[in-house]
Amino acid sequence: MTNRNYKIGIMPGDGTGPEVVREGLKVLEAAMDKYGFKCEFVEYDFGGDRYLKTGEVLPDSSIEEFKKLNAIFLGAIGHPDVKPGILEQGILLRTRFELDQYINLRPVKLYPGVETPIKDKGPEDIDFVVVRENTEGLYAGAGGFLKKGTLDEVAIQESINTRKGVERCTRYAFEYCKHRNKDKNLTLCGKTNVLTYAFDLWQRTFNEVAKEYPNINTDYAHVDAICMWFVKNPEWFDVIVTDNMFGDIITDIGAMIQGGMGIAAGGNINPDGVSMFEPIGGSAPKYTGKNVINPLAAISAVQMMLEFLGEKEAALSIEKGVIKVTSEKLKSLSAGKMGYTTSEVGDMVTDFVSR
Ligand code: IPM
Ligand code: MN
Repeated sequence: MTNRNYKIGIMPGDGTGPEVVREGLKVLEAAMDKYGFKCEFVEYDFGGDRYLKTGEVLPDSSIEEFKKLNAIFLGAIGHPDVKPGILEQGILLRTRFELDQYINLRPVKLYPGVETPIKDKGPEDIDFVVVRENTEGLYAGAGGFLKKGTLDEVAIQESINTRKGVERCTRYAFEYCKHRNKDKNLTLCGKTNVLTYAFDLWQRTFNEVAKEYPNINTDYAHVDAICMWFVKNPEWFDVIVTDNMFGDIITDIGAMIQGGMGIAAGGNINPDGVSMFEPIGGSAPKYTGKNVINPLAAISAVQMMLEFLGEKEAALSIEKGVIKVTSEKLKSLSAGKMGYTTSEVGDMVTDFVSR
């Protein structure tokens, strides 16, 4: 018997985070009613406002609480009155690290009705997934200053790549590719011609793990070339695996070619632990509280969360609802130009899921 009661942490966060999370939850409630699973919600008010009021970013006790959840749904982190880095590192990166969410999964899929900036490409051309390592690389925080603030200043920022970290990420990508219904093609994205230590480890690990997956085609591309091909030939890609920094960069290109930040969602995944799902667009301060931001990315984050929790039918229905809205309703995905308000878009997906 599977237990279909889930304990979900809700972290609306900053800016437009709360508005889009509200729509995601509306859709989630409809999915619960329709598909017969239950969620208990635990709300966390971490973010810029709380930090400015209390000085608290993320207490250790909440990390311990997070570990008892089934998943976390995050809105957005980043506040215009808080120095860049404090909230991002203190909340987002800390949660990724402490919960060992070692995969950042970012699907790049152009839905029907969505405009891509790439001429002559359609939904059949843009449908791939980036598996980004999420706990190491340049994000590990290794390095430091020497003689800070002087003319002799030195700043070092090192990329940490462990065999274990690279191998588990690579293995996840092969497994993901094996179960994904596409070309069974996995591309390693690196920079073996310059980063001859880090990506030597990646390449060797990738080649070794590949031997266990004889039915998956593998190839390799340098990160700069990947940037070019995402724009020129996105149809070449099925699954791509890469390190933390390159994954961060190429998935912003991915988000743009799938229609923009209004639609891009991601999962910070610990396959054996607690994962966190988020729209990747950020807090969009200038649209805050106006009911104009696009909630589809947050709704797609809920879809990814349900898929991960094993509620596949509900997840599929949410995706169909999103496609219905992009293909038949929205004029644009951009804030203020959708032809509908944030809550109306949420209502349309909710109605579809409830039917
Ligand atoms: C992302 C974001 C974060 C990252 C920032 C906010 C720390 O850009 O999720 O891609 O760089 O990972
Ligand atoms: Mn990013």
